[in-house]
Amino acid sequence: MNVIEVTGLRKSYPERTAVDGVSFQVGRGEIFGLAGPNGGGKTTLVECLSGLRRPDGGTVRVLGHDPWRERSALHQRIGVQLQDSRLPGELRVGEALRLYSTFYREPADWRELMATWELTDRRNTAFNKLSGGWRQRLLIALALVGKPELVVLDELTTGLDPYARRATWAMVRELRTLGVTVVLVSHFMDEAEALCDRVAVLGAGRLLALGSPAELVAEAGADNLEEAFLDLVEEYR
Ligand SMILES: Nc1ncnc2c1ncn2[C@@H]1O[C@H](COP(=O)(O)OP(=O)(O)O)[C@@H](O)[C@H]1O
Ligand SMILES: [Mg+2]
Repeated sequence: MNVIEVTGLRKSYPERTAVDGVSFQVGRGEIFGLAGPNGGGKTTLVECLSGLRRPDGGTVRVLGHDPWRERSALHQRIGVQLQDSRLPGELRVGEALRLYSTFYREPADWRELMATWELTDRRNTAFNKLSGGWRQRLLIALALVGKPELVVLDELTTGLDPYARRATWAMVRELRTLGVTVVLVSHFMDEAEALCDRVAVLGAGRLLALGSPAELVAEAGADNLEEAFLDLVEEYR
């Protein structure tokens, strides 16, 4: 069974259509990339997958659940880091992990998770005192507290320095080895090329292309994914 099945998904805001008839599937254990220009509909799409927005049309199934109607059941099985995820500034690393673990019926051992993600030395550091890379590391760890089968990461590495970005890639690869399915929204084509099994390119709410990085490069007759991407989104910027 696919982890994600989306058919004809539509979602409009009062002023505009954000997702305009999108269909795709994601299999278990895949790292599935979502790329596209700003405003393409990526965040709206992952919010619909995560049960945070109600679609206007089409069907969405995530781990067999309708994300909107069955969001409390779904939230026990997925982990989400949203583009604008923030925590109360005073909340400390250890406190955040302990608090999040109470949201789940069968949480991971948060102390173990803290150690795995090398956060133990910073357990008493407040969120607003963490640098970008450490915030992202904590947000990933928080997305994993519920031992999720699917993790959604929206612009995880935007704003990170190159070193922190590479460290984050290693963390995403680690998720794959754990058998976790990952939806990764990214602006960086080197990142998509390095991490993703398949990439969907969204422009103006529509699916412009979907395939492995190698397929997208070959279809565009390009030298690399960035070139293929620029070619695809030319008219949507
Ligand atoms: N909460 C919102 N209210 C109204 N319009 C929104 C909202 N969120 C996004 N939009 C609009 O929907 C479109 C898609 O946005 P978004 O899903 O954030 O795309 P992306 O993540 O690809 O940048 C954009 O035109 C954006 O301005
Ligand atoms: Mg976005």
